[in-house]
Amino acid sequence: MKITWWGHAAIQIEGSKIVIIDPFLTGNPVAAISPDKINQADLVAVTHDHGDHLGDAFTICQQTGATLVAIHEIAVMAEEKGIKAEGMNIGGSIEVEGVVVHMVNALHSCDKGHPAGVVIEMDGRKLYHAGDTALTYDMKLIGEFFQPDLSFLPIGDRYTMGIPSAVKAVEFTQTKRVIPIHYGTFPLVEADPHEFQRRVGNLAEVIILKQGESYILE
Ligand code: NI
Ligand code: MN
Repeated sequence: MKITWWGHAAIQIEGSKIVIIDPFLTGNPVAAISPDKINQADLVAVTHDHGDHLGDAFTICQQTGATLVAIHEIAVMAEEKGIKAEGMNIGGSIEVEGVVVHMVNALHSCDKGHPAGVVIEMDGRKLYHAGDTALTYDMKLIGEFFQPDLSFLPIGDRYTMGIPSAVKAVEFTQTKRVIPIHYGTFPLVEADPHEFQRRVGNLAEVIILKQGESYILE
């Protein structure tokens, strides 16, 4: 399974299907790809409707034919644009083309619906994308239910968890590996991923990517 960080919270997961999460590319100063270069995707998941997450999701769905998966209110917006969408809500799970998406809680704000995180199950692997969130005690439930093979956790502080909270989130979720996201995009979300790595210690493997870099999950 190949995991690529396009920058900010944008993640691409390539296994038997191609799943893209929070593709904020246009207007993202560190985006490693432009949306017109993404010509293959099966599923695009969006955690909430802030511009740095919804981003180019609709455009990518239109040009690839991918199904948009998001909270009900965002899915309705997509359907109004003629996009194939599957709406869901926190606590629910759906299967789209053999990929299972579990929607989990996120503590944040948004305009439509409610912010969320997603656990993606594909090819026997579980990957947790936290979206934008504070540290919550609910993350212990992710640990109890899923024990993710790999998690994408924000560390940029100010709008999301900072490093101390994200380290606690690693512990709560019992994730085996973690890729820090939502930092290094704008001056307001600067963070040192190496400090995060040091503080996580041997709780989990911390994989630090540069924007555009990939990690192979064996
Ligand atoms: Ni947000
Ligand atoms: Mn954000």
